[in-house]
Formats: sequence, C-alpha cells, structure tokens
Amino acid sequence: MANKTEISFRTQCIHTGNGIDKETGAIRRPITMANSYRLPEDSSTLDWSDPNQLVYTRNTSANQIYLQEKLAALEGGEDCVVLSTGVSALAGVFFTFLDKDAHIICSNVSYVAVYRLLKEYFPDKYGVETTLVDTGNLDEIKKALRPNTKIIHIETPGNPTTRVSDIAEISKIAQSVGALLTVDSTFASPFLQRPLELGADLVIHSLTKYINGHGDSMGGAVIGRKDLIDQIKRQAMVNLGGAISPFNAWLIMRGAVTLPLRMKQHSESAMKVARFLEGHSSVDFVAYPGLESHPQHEIAKKQMSMYSGVLSFGLKADVDTHNKFVNSLELIVPAVSIGHDESLIVYTGPKDERNHFYPDEFKNGHLRFSVGLEEADDIIADLKQAFEKCGL
Ligand SMILES: Cc1ncc(COP(=O)(O)O)c(C=O)c1O
Repeated sequence: MANKTEISFRTQCIHTGNGIDKETGAIRRPITMANSYRLPEDSSTLDWSDPNQLVYTRNTSANQIYLQEKLAALEGGEDCVVLSTGVSALAGVFFTFLDKDAHIICSNVSYVAVYRLLKEYFPDKYGVETTLVDTGNLDEIKKALRPNTKIIHIETPGNPTTRVSDIAEISKIAQSVGALLTVDSTFASPFLQRPLELGADLVIHSLTKYINGHGDSMGGAVIGRKDLIDQIKRQAMVNLGGAISPFNAWLIMRGAVTLPLRMKQHSESAMKVARFLEGHSSVDFVAYPGLESHPQHEIAKKQMSMYSGVLSFGLKADVDTHNKFVNSLELIVPAVSIGHDESLIVYTGPKDERNHFYPDEFKNGHLRFSVGLEEADDIIADLKQAFEKCGL
C-alpha cells in the first residue's frame, strides 16, 4: 500500500490502525481485554511507567495503540494519546501543561466541565490564573495575554452556542508569547476541520461523539507533536489513571471507519434543518455555523469543509412551551450528547451557570439539537408535528 501520509482520509479511516491478527489470521484486530502483558525476560531495566510499552493496561493497551495510530493519521499529527473520556483528555492537557501560578486563556463558552476545571478547580487548588474571554474576538485574547500565559484553549465550534474561533489567527497570537494553542475540535471531527494544519499545537476530541458516532462508548483523545503527547501520556495518563477500556477503544475504532460518510450526512441534514427552522415564524433564533446569519460564518467557511450536525435554537415561547415542544417529538430523542446516529435534543432552561456569557438570544434557555442520520425530511416532519402540537 502507498505511504500512509499519501492515502486519502477516507481510506485511512478504514485501514489505518487495523491489521491481520498474527495468531488467527482474522482480518480485524481482536479486542484484547487483558489488563497485563507478559514481561520481557529481563525486567530489571524496565521503565514500569512507559506509556508506549505493553506492560499494564493503565499505561497502555493494544486496542488503545491501534486507535492512537488511526487518530494521529486522521488529524495529521505525529502522535496521539487516547483516554477514557473527552473530559479526561482535556484534564490531561491542563494537568500536564499548567504549572502552579501559570495563566490560561479560555473560551468563555466551552464544554461545562472545562469551564468548571478552569474557573474553579485549577485556580482554587493550584493557584492557576484563568481568563475567560470571547475567543471569537481576537482583541479580547490579545488583551488577556500575560507573561505567564501557558495555554490558549478554544473550542470551535463551541458548545452550545456554536461560536466559531479563528484557529489560524489565534495560533499566531499564541506563538507570539510562546503559549500552546489547544483546540477542542469535537463538534467538527477531523473530517471537517484540521486544527494542526492551521497552527494549533494540540487537538482534543471527545471520541464519545462523532468519531465513535453510535452512542455506545466513551473516549477522549489528544493529538499533536510527539514530545507534547509523551508528556501527557506520562503525567496525565499513567499517573491520573484515565485509561480507556480496550472494548471502548475497539468500538470507537469500528465507528471511525464510517466517519466521512456520517459527517457528510450530518452536515447536509443539519443545513436543511437549520434552514427550515430559520424560516419558521415561531423560531426566535438559530445558531448554526453554516447559515449566513451566523456571526462567524465567514471564519467557519474558511476553516471547515462542512458545518457538522449541531445547532442551537430558541422558540418565541416560555419555558413550559419549550418543554412541551421537546416532549411532543416522536422521533428526535430528548437526551444529552451529540454526534450519535439518532437525533438528540436538550432543552437548557434559563438557569445554566454559564448563561451570562451567552449571546442575548440564548438567555431564556435554548434547544441544543444534534441532527442525526435519519432522513432529513423525517426529522423536519417530526419538528413540524411538534410545532403544531404546541400551537406554534
Ligand atoms: C465539545 C465537547 N468537548 C468535550 C466533551 C466531553 O466529552 P466526554 O463526555 O466524552 O467526557 C463534550 C461533551 O459533551 C463536548 O461537547
């Protein structure tokens, strides 16, 4: 086969990290559920915490290694570390690169666990300084820089506002002060957005979402330069114990095979649904990076090939009607998470702890909608019947 870097993304999704099982000849690598591995004959010189050697599954496991190979190739990075969840991947980055008294600049709208880790946990326990800014605004980032800024962390598109941050421009700012740019690219997946090529130092994914894609396992990954990933493996994975189960790694490996096909479909359907919602007289707002009305649509166009499957919207209605709307849906499932095969919707009421950072239209609560792989017309028909049931 051609050199791995020359083969296309779609082919890599299928072949990279897979191989023939040496013992049985099976054309799929098996799930290795062992938690330890046969030691070498002379173990006296072994580095017991080597995260790249098969010794103990908390340090690394066979299925984890296969998945790391695939994800490093898909993001175009030198190396990858896979962990038990997206949050453990994010925490792994912060625990590794934030020393006592370091400063981090972070999107003021990001996944809620990141918000809590950086706003409360790290400052209270370790004296880390955090500045939360609108990373859609480059001047705000520049103004927040300090001599001890070690990381600029962005999430793009961001959860739940879908705000887009300009990866290439922010990477220049990070480089100018020797800080790392870390990008949570979960909403996009490597098929739609390649942050390392745009200058990011590390890319983080919740594998629980699009990369697995079937709502049946959890995982997280960080991809980037080998020297950085090695530090995360040694400091965060081995010591904090966030190892992924081999079974979950295997499931994610299988899910990733169809990533390009799914992302294309999610994006096409979400675009159709977003246009339908935008045209509905009872809809107050729709936030979707693919719409011309999205405030950072031009940046999204520049750095994403399509716009993925997540959108947020609000109704011209009160809290009870929002709840009634969600409970009137017959196909779309009210549940958290994104990137599954089935469409998922969550109504977040006005009590969200990050509400003060949201754009005005989000303040009475919003519906976060992960558009699934069902026929787009069926999804729209379900929304229509729910609007009717609510008299909207
Ligand atoms: C953008 C983003 N990053 C990280 C996470 C956390 O991932 P996990 O639930 O796998 O820990 C989520 C979860 O919703 C997310 O939406």
